[in-house]
Amino acid sequence: MNESGQKKIFLKSEADQWFDRNKELYDSQEEKDDRIIQILKSIELLPQKVLEIGCSNGNRLALIRTVFQAECWGIDPSSKAISEGKKRFPEIALQVGTADILSFQDATFDTIIFGFCLYLCDRKDLFKIAYEADRCLKNEGTLIIQDFLPTFPYKNKYSHLSGLYSYKMDYSKMFSWNPVYSEVANIVYSHSGFKDRDIPNEKIATIVLRKNRQYAYPEEPYNF
Ligand SMILES: C[S@@+](CC[C@H](N)C(=O)[O-])C[C@H]1O[C@@H](n2cnc3c(N)ncnc32)[C@H](O)[C@@H]1O
Repeated sequence: MNESGQKKIFLKSEADQWFDRNKELYDSQEEKDDRIIQILKSIELLPQKVLEIGCSNGNRLALIRTVFQAECWGIDPSSKAISEGKKRFPEIALQVGTADILSFQDATFDTIIFGFCLYLCDRKDLFKIAYEADRCLKNEGTLIIQDFLPTFPYKNKYSHLSGLYSYKMDYSKMFSWNPVYSEVANIVYSHSGFKDRDIPNEKIATIVLRKNRQYAYPEEPYNF
């Protein structure tokens, strides 16, 4: 399997088909169902300029806008999801795009969200994706990664399309190696809530990282 084929295969048909299969679910989503919003509230963060990468039709962003009175931007490769979202949520700035190339200025956002997006991304794009998210996130900003959290990295065949894989790994590591990022929350659960979260293949997490250059490299810490 050519692992750099993932993006091409996904964009060809699955981006729109994923939206077709799931759009009804989005219609019924409320603030109380959204774990990212619940976690943001519980750790007392107040996002004001938010980008969701892989936002589908922008449903979560519309909830975030209402809950936090935040300005919201979203990108997704599905042109169907984006055009439906633009009609439904005209107050959200939505655009077709992928995580590896962001068309925003440096340090534009105080909050960037990857909600179940990274497991679908092409392996060869991961460094670019980390670079772009870091570039667009302000210092003292928040990065939220909601994804599978297995004990070790592995891939499963994607059930809806042959040739695609769901790549499971701890995506917070794309940033947390860098002392500029520190983890401030890590909530582990499963698609059925807190039930089944011990089963390795079911385990998912929302990990919140804060970017702060000030504490990254303390000078001469051993010079007593
Ligand atoms: C499982 S859905 C999650 C949607 C939404 N973020 C949520 O949490 O409900 C994954 C989304 O990621 C998008 N996606 C897939 N590959 C992507 C890429 N390379 N860059 C950005 N988004 C991507 C898909 O089109 C899809 O809308």
